[in-house]
Amino acid sequence: MLIRRARKEDYPAFAAIEAEHPGYPAWGERGFAAEEANRNSVTLAAELDGRTAGFINFWILRPQVQLNTLAVGRAFLRRGAAAALLGKLFEYAAKSLCREVDLEVNEHNAAAIALYRRHGFEVVGKRPKFYNNTDAALLLRRVLPSKDL
Ligand SMILES: CC(C)(COP(=O)(O)OP(=O)(O)OC[C@H]1O[C@@H](n2cnc3c(N)ncnc32)[C@H](O)[C@@H]1OP(=O)(O)O)[C@@H](O)C(=O)NCCC(=O)NCCS
Repeated sequence: MLIRRARKEDYPAFAAIEAEHPGYPAWGERGFAAEEANRNSVTLAAELDGRTAGFINFWILRPQVQLNTLAVGRAFLRRGAAAALLGKLFEYAAKSLCREVDLEVNEHNAAAIALYRRHGFEVVGKRPKFYNNTDAALLLRRVLPSKDL
């Protein structure tokens, strides 16, 4: 598993991964490209067997990191890609002296909630009807151990 900075050439693969998850809020190629203008924004790609397996985007907003989007292609699920992408986010957070990582997740997204709980996130809030005016968003936060800073 290789985790590296994303490149323009990755954006079609990222959009294809998004399309494999109906209902997931998609950025599309343009959305990823637009992030290049944001100096606080980091987009990483996961590569498995030489193929683009997944992506993550987050903003470094010291003292917080905001996780904006994370997805893995169907062919690569449950092989640790999301865990590896999250691990790299935590490295960036520590290097940037960020104490908290925040994100929003659909209350019905059991896979993602399991992933985040396993990585130390806790529910700190809820936004009703956040997605399509129907599903609530859970606000999750992980406070980094001070030894990591
Ligand atoms: C959520 C998602 C990113 C997980 O990606 P992944 O690469 O399959 O996750 P990993 O292999 O790194 O899993 C790490 C751990 O998360 C948990 N997990 C992941 N998928 C799970 C599932 N479907 N059901 C239950 N637990 C799950 C498990 O604890 C897993 O460890 P294990 O495989 O040893 O049991 C993926 O399902 C996805 O892309 N979903 C659609 C997009 C999305 O919802 N993104 C979240 C945005 S908030």
